[in-house]
Amino acid sequence: MATVEDCRLIDLPKISTRQGALTPIYGKEHVPFDIARVYYLYDVPGGESRGGHAHKALQQLIVSVMGAFDVIVDDGFKRKRVRLDRAYCGLYIPRMIWRELENFSSGGICLVLASHPYDEADYIRDHQEFLRAANASI
Ligand code: TYD
Repeated sequence: MATVEDCRLIDLPKISTRQGALTPIYGKEHVPFDIARVYYLYDVPGGESRGGHAHKALQQLIVSVMGAFDVIVDDGFKRKRVRLDRAYCGLYIPRMIWRELENFSSGGICLVLASHPYDEADYIRDHQEFLRAANASI
């Protein structure tokens, strides 16, 4: 069972020129899983939070490509808050970690690289159910 200590920050390259910055992400080099899907969250209204679930199998790398937001990760025993505010730094989230995203800055964009296609059956959306599953697996 993964713990919040396994939710680690991954440095991404930053190529800066006078014309601006660019960050390439290579699957094998920077992402600890095969990427099956990419999506992004945007137009998040002030005060809204996202997430509020865990995944049975899905792994993710989350990057704040514009602005900033907080990610709260929870392994059923410990919680950790990570502020993502750099487009060249990703937070890796293994399977079976509860996550909440909040405190989005205005115009914030959250890029997510995911290990599987969307599958509602992979979600645990009830925190009590997540706690039971986390306890059962130790
Ligand atoms: P959800 O994963 O709950 O969003 P968040 O964790 O960002 O709050 O997904 C919100 C809705 O979007 C839900 O109805 C499922 C749908 N959805 C897709 O259809 N495809 C996707 O790849 C994702 C991530 C969500």
